[in-house]
Parts: sequence; structure tokens; C-alpha cells
Amino acid sequence: MHCSLVIVLALAVLHGAAAKDLRSVSEPKIPGACTSLTGSGKDDTAAIQKALSSCSKGKSVRLASGTFLSGPLTIPSGVSLWVDSGATLKAVTDPKKFDEGKNTCGTLDNGGSGCKAFITINGATGTGIYGKGTIDGQGGQTMTGKGETWWKLAADAKDKNKKQNAPRLIQIDNSKDITLYLITLKNSPNFHVVSKSTNGFTAWGVTINTPGTARNTDGIDPMGSQNITIAHCNIATGDDNVAIKAGNAPTRHVSILNNKFGVGHGMSIGSEVNDGVSDVTVSSLTLEGTTNGLRIKSDKSRGGLVTGVTYTNVCMHNVKNPIVLDTQYSNAGGSHIPVFKGITFNNIRVLTAGTFTFDGISDSSPVEATLNNVHIKSGSKWTTSHAKISGKYSQDASGNSC
Ligand SMILES: *[C@@H]1O[C@H](CO)[C@@H](O)[C@H](O)[C@H]1NC(C)=O
Repeated sequence: MHCSLVIVLALAVLHGAAAKDLRSVSEPKIPGACTSLTGSGKDDTAAIQKALSSCSKGKSVRLASGTFLSGPLTIPSGVSLWVDSGATLKAVTDPKKFDEGKNTCGTLDNGGSGCKAFITINGATGTGIYGKGTIDGQGGQTMTGKGETWWKLAADAKDKNKKQNAPRLIQIDNSKDITLYLITLKNSPNFHVVSKSTNGFTAWGVTINTPGTARNTDGIDPMGSQNITIAHCNIATGDDNVAIKAGNAPTRHVSILNNKFGVGHGMSIGSEVNDGVSDVTVSSLTLEGTTNGLRIKSDKSRGGLVTGVTYTNVCMHNVKNPIVLDTQYSNAGGSHIPVFKGITFNNIRVLTAGTFTFDGISDSSPVEATLNNVHIKSGSKWTTSHAKISGKYSQDASGNSC
């Protein structure tokens, strides 16, 4: 064998081995409690925040039972929030409580950044949210002092070509080793979980359960982050179940393992990929009733390189667009050309007919994908343009459920 060939093979193996979270991640453990609280059914913001702020590092504030109403909370570095099985933490419905200072939270404008998140983790190391309890963003409730719900505001924004100012449920910024474990998240007024500029993020056994009609309620969005694991989660919501983005920094080394997605817009990468997305493994995923399945989307205003993405053992049922590689998600102009290559599909079963799209930007920048053992349903539509596809699919999928 030629020496150069050996090197090429060795590099390929190395690259293959690195296409995932580089940490070794195992099932998290709930940190012991520094204090336990019981919900009063009234606004408990001050009591919860005080407990979080005075808890020692390595411990958690345990919400033991009852209903807690709260405005925005910040979890300090090293401290965790434990919402135990009998407890529900609900966001108050008053937009003023979430306002960032410009009195725009709960209104439409052109920015959409007028609200604080319900729970903020910023500049933290080793912080987490744990437990079998529920965090409810109350997105379907009428906002205090307004005649409509957070979700209706989001729908209005679409109609009026504006942005809604609505709180995200959990916002993580500039942090390290952040964990979400077992918690149920529901009814966020906007995205449920954003992990931005964060290295080391684990979501394990998390349930997200929000109606498919609730606009812009993404499940989990890693952005400009590295060493990410999303495992054993059940995610049903009104927008992308998971969306990997890289608008602010590269996102690399992502493992998405053993998850189930219900309604939603699917397992997405994009639209912002300016700084590049690479080394992503999606393995053992079931999608039931999502609009899209495995999707990479971008456009010339926010494109970049997406490479080293492997999807293995994926089953889909009632998915409209099972595979979508779309470099022209919108017709926005710009010089950020989306380049999708090194995208591999292994052992994919799609049990209902759907539309498959491989759409590159030009013959000089085609989308490049490899198919191994891809079985789709007869009657599906398969469209390619500016695409280099190796391997084949067969229209022989059978079975009524994944
Ligand atoms: C990712 O995890 C590996 C292994 O723990 C570590 O060496 C590396 O520094 C991490 N990357 C980042 C960007 O933190």
C-alpha cells in the first residue's frame, strides 16, 4: 500500500472517530439538596431566587412539591435546580416581569429580543436542571394586560411580518458542563432550550411536550457550542425538535442518541451555519408525525460549511419531507454560500411516502451525500439538483410503525 494511502485512511478513521461529543458522557446524577421548598401556588420568585443565590456549589435547590409561580430566574455557577416529581414550576403570564428594559416584552417589533428568558444560565460551570417535575412556560395562557396568548402573539408576528417579543424557557450562554436531566418542559412562549457559546452540554431523558401549532417553539438549539449530547429525550413541539446552529461560532462534536421526536419540524441543522457545523452523529432516532425528518437548511445570507454529519438507524413514520438538504431555504441574498458535504445516511427506514430533496446551490458547490441501506416507501418523490449522491435508495420500506 502506498504511504499516502495509509495516511489518508488513518485520517479518515480519525475523522470518523471524532464525529461526536468528545467527552465520555454517562447518565447524570441529581446533586444533593441545599434546601427544599414547597410551592405556595402564588408568586414564589423571590423565595426561589434567594435559595438559588445562597446555595453552595455542587448542591441543588429542590422544589419538592406543589405549584410554584415565578418570573425570570438565574441559576448561579455550580448550583442546580431540582424540580422533583410532585412539583411544577410555572412562568407568570405578565410580560412586564420578563421585560429587558425597553417595555417591549409581549409586543411585536423588528428585533424580538425584548424579553428575558424564564431561566437564565450565564457564564456558569457545572450548573444543571434536574428532576421528574415540570417546567411550564404557559405560552398558551393569555398574557396579563393583553387580550391574547404568547402563541397568538407569535402567529400575529408572522401575519404582520414582525418579530414577537416572547421569553425563551431556558437560555444558556458562555457556560461549561451544563446538564438537563429527566425534566419535563412544556408550553414555552418561544424556544425551549438554547445552549449558546457553551462547551459541554448534556440533555438526558428530557421530555418536551408542546402543541405543534405553537409557532417558534424549538425544542433544543445548540448554537456556536461544542461537546453536546442529547440522549434519551422525547421531543414534540411547534418548530424544530432540535436545531443545530452556528451563527456566532462553530458548532462541533455533537451526539444525538436514542431520541424520539413527535410533532415538530424535525432534526435540523441551520438556518444559521455561517461559522460551520461539523462532526455530528445522529443515531437511533424515531420521528413520528414531524413535517421534516433529517434536514439541513440555509441560504446565501447565513450559509457556511456543514460537513461530517452522519445519520444512523433512523426510522420515520408520517413525515412529509423525510430528508431535506436545502441550500435555498429562503431566497435571501448574500455571499455566505451554503456548502453541505460529507453527509452520510446509514440504515434509514421511512415507512410512509414523502418528498426527498437534495438541492445544492450550483454545480461547482453541489450538496454531497452518501446513502447506505436507505429504504423509503414507494410513491415517494425524490428530487435532486446540483447534488452528488453516492449509494442508492430502494423503494421497499414496509411496516406500519417504527
Ligand atoms: C471537548 O471535550 C474534550 C474531551 O473532554 C476536550 O478535550 C475538549 O477540550 C472539549 N472541547 C471544548 C471546545 O471544550
